Amino acid sequence: MDNFNFYSPTFFAFGKERENEAGSLTKRFGGSKVLIVYGGGSVVRSGLLDRVKASLEKEGIAYVLLGGVQPNPRSGLVYEGIELCKKESVDFVLAVGGGSTIDASKAIAAGVVYDGDFWDFYCGKPIENALPIGTILTIAAAGSEGSPDSVITHEDGMLKRGASGDAIRPKFSILNPALTQTLPAFQTACGITDIMAHLYERYLTNTVEVEVTDRMIEALMLTLIHEGPRVIEDPDNYEARANIMWAGMMAHNNSCGVGRSQDWNSHNIEHELSALYDCAHGAGLAVTMPAVFTYVCQHDIMRFAQAAVRVWGCQMDLYHPEVTAKAGIEALRNFLISIGMPKNFAELGAKEEDIPYLVNTLCNGNGRGGSISGFVTLDEEDCSKIYQLMV
Ligand code: NZQ
Ligand code: ZN
Repeated sequence: MDNFNFYSPTFFAFGKERENEAGSLTKRFGGSKVLIVYGGGSVVRSGLLDRVKASLEKEGIAYVLLGGVQPNPRSGLVYEGIELCKKESVDFVLAVGGGSTIDASKAIAAGVVYDGDFWDFYCGKPIENALPIGTILTIAAAGSEGSPDSVITHEDGMLKRGASGDAIRPKFSILNPALTQTLPAFQTACGITDIMAHLYERYLTNTVEVEVTDRMIEALMLTLIHEGPRVIEDPDNYEARANIMWAGMMAHNNSCGVGRSQDWNSHNIEHELSALYDCAHGAGLAVTMPAVFTYVCQHDIMRFAQAAVRVWGCQMDLYHPEVTAKAGIEALRNFLISIGMPKNFAELGAKEEDIPYLVNTLCNGNGRGGSISGFVTLDEEDCSKIYQLMV
């Protein structure tokens, strides 16, 4: 196991009706003038936004509203939010929605207290200061409710890039699984896929002897395999939604990623797809992961075989471990298809003729020097072959 730091100071309020504590939690973490950020309207239609407003009003906390965050959130709304915070002397940002809303809120919170362009953070500058952030999560997926990360797409060039820093870890996150019951089945499945990807990106490691985190990751994967089909079958199943929601947080606050090298090639390869085609991140990952894993599995057949046996219930073929490894990747692919995810470029809305563009922005955009690194270092030729496997 490698040396590591682990810092995860977010306060989690989990369970039914906890959104009614938004006001008291905002006060507890120092908010007196709040920017409420939300997406395309699901929180208006569900009545959640009204309940959050009432909770703030009960505590005498003033607020201004910023709606309209799109999935794969864009820079334009971030600039707008920064200006609004300055004009209104906002001291706390409250995200009500999914990963896109939370990520836009994090970008705004960091941008308000920074003299330069907030995009600097998405070009490698660490985030050291930000307004405090709270979240009320409505979809189990990105894990942004417990992570120090934010992913934004810049409209100038449609570059989708991530920024990171402990300053943008939420002060509190409210997780009420019942709020996810209004999700369309497709979005629920996208979320499950993203959580699965966050687990695989950590499982694929070059660090040896990491039994505790291996076992934690496997437990969370098994939870998704059990609960995923149950929630697709019965969207009102609160207990299944509760397990998926906490798995989503655990998968990405890095408690099961510490002390080990991690991959993130699937995410980087997918981000080019959701930037160019505006597809859902989870849907893009469903097509990306099996292709990447097929391409890189020779690098460490036994790691893939271990996942196949422990997570997917495959029989270990000691004479041909590569057969076991590939069976595990096939089981993952079939699971994702079974919950309604796309399986190839055509179903995703991606085009084969765009592969040279995708490879170029992936490997050379934002100062990358012709390759991406993770479990395996992949150059332009490798990435081109991986995108071809998705066609
Ligand atoms: O915008 P509204 O109207 O709210 O609708 C959203 C949106 O259309 C809808 N939705 C969310 N909760 C709902 C609901 N509809 C009905 N009922 C509810 N309860 O679902 C759609 C997707 O929402 P979005 O916030 O985009 O989903 P998600 O949480 O999957 O976030 C995706 C973004 O997070 C980034 C992705 O790249 C993508 O941009 N990621 C962020 C990470 C992080 N910050 O740590 C890590 C991830 O790997 C990921 O890259
Ligand atoms: Zn993700």
